[in-house]
Amino acid sequence: GTVVLAYSGGLDTSCILVWLKEQGYNVIAYLANIGQDEDFEAARKKAESLGAKKVFIEDLRSQFVEDFIWPAVQANAVYEDRYPLGTAVARPCIAHRQVEIARREGAQFVSHGATGKGNDQIRFELTCYALYPEVKIIAPWRIPEFYNRFRGRTDLMEYAQKHGIPVPVTPRAPWSMDANLMHISYESGILENPKVSFQLHPVNLSLSLRGKHGVGRIDIVENRFIGMKSRGIYETPGGTVLLKAHLDIETFTMDKEVRRIKQGLGIRFSELVYNGFWDSPECDFVRHCIAKSQENVEGKVQLSVFKGQVYILGRESSKSLYNEELVSMDVQGDYDPCDASGFIRINAVRLREHHRLQGFSGTK
Ligand code: ARG
Ligand code: SIN
Repeated sequence: GTVVLAYSGGLDTSCILVWLKEQGYNVIAYLANIGQDEDFEAARKKAESLGAKKVFIEDLRSQFVEDFIWPAVQANAVYEDRYPLGTAVARPCIAHRQVEIARREGAQFVSHGATGKGNDQIRFELTCYALYPEVKIIAPWRIPEFYNRFRGRTDLMEYAQKHGIPVPVTPRAPWSMDANLMHISYESGILENPKVSFQLHPVNLSLSLRGKHGVGRIDIVENRFIGMKSRGIYETPGGTVLLKAHLDIETFTMDKEVRRIKQGLGIRFSELVYNGFWDSPECDFVRHCIAKSQENVEGKVQLSVFKGQVYILGRESSKSLYNEELVSMDVQGDYDPCDASGFIRINAVRLREHHRLQGFSGTK
């Protein structure tokens, strides 16, 4: 059969490519350009030299921004109050095109290099099953014959040497990285000890800290869908600036009660996306609601970034609900202050009753 492999150009998926070939598959290598730092032509040559029948290098950058990053920003999507989902939004984007290619090329199989313990396997596969129900998925890191043969990096290197797979010459970073337009993430290796500080490691200096100001850099322990906690370091500079600016203009232009409902949907959206349910009916529904909420959310925010912080300096919008005259302390506007007395007294009814029952209401 023919298999479309989500190929990164790295050691793992290069070994997977050759291994799939060894198992008798025709391998189509598919490399998505989602803004990672990569020599795509070199990766093409490498995949060809490893025996890929075809190589597709797909520039998905504008789709990634418009169809995935932008809805996430509109949702103010942040998982567990901190992680802006840079990897989670990339996976369905990659899988959509992978399925397209598989259908077009008449491939029954798709494959990926995600481990059996993580979120990415779930994200890739849920999307593949949703869009291509007959597909057969080959996840080598869940196949005993594969993972028993490749127990560590040394096994992969040995296999690579034997099969003419170019072995990376640069010393390996002591963690695994995932980079795209939106963010870069670091996990595993020495970072598996949640106490070990990332900042202090010397290799760190050359590989990370891409954003000059360190904006959007976080070190968190998060809850994977599969049921374990994992430690990750993320840097989402542009995404963080966008999120802050969006939040500001949203509160400026959106009705208070709409915003409250929409905020809850944003939290649901974040969980759905994190867990791999981008292509579910509920996520589709939530995306439509959020898109509807954004009709008047537009404007300009002035901000500055400095020492890891995003500082909002001011905003303007033709759709603003801000009424300077109404809120002013200097003019009355269309508002009668006397009304506030009744408003407060009515609101106090419930409070008074609560305290009366608790015996705290005092003497009357
Ligand atoms: N823990 C993050 C997530 O689940 C990042 C995963 C990083 N993936 C990777 N292949 N290195 O979204
Ligand atoms: C992986 O398991 O391949 C990376 C981590 C994750 O998907 O959560």
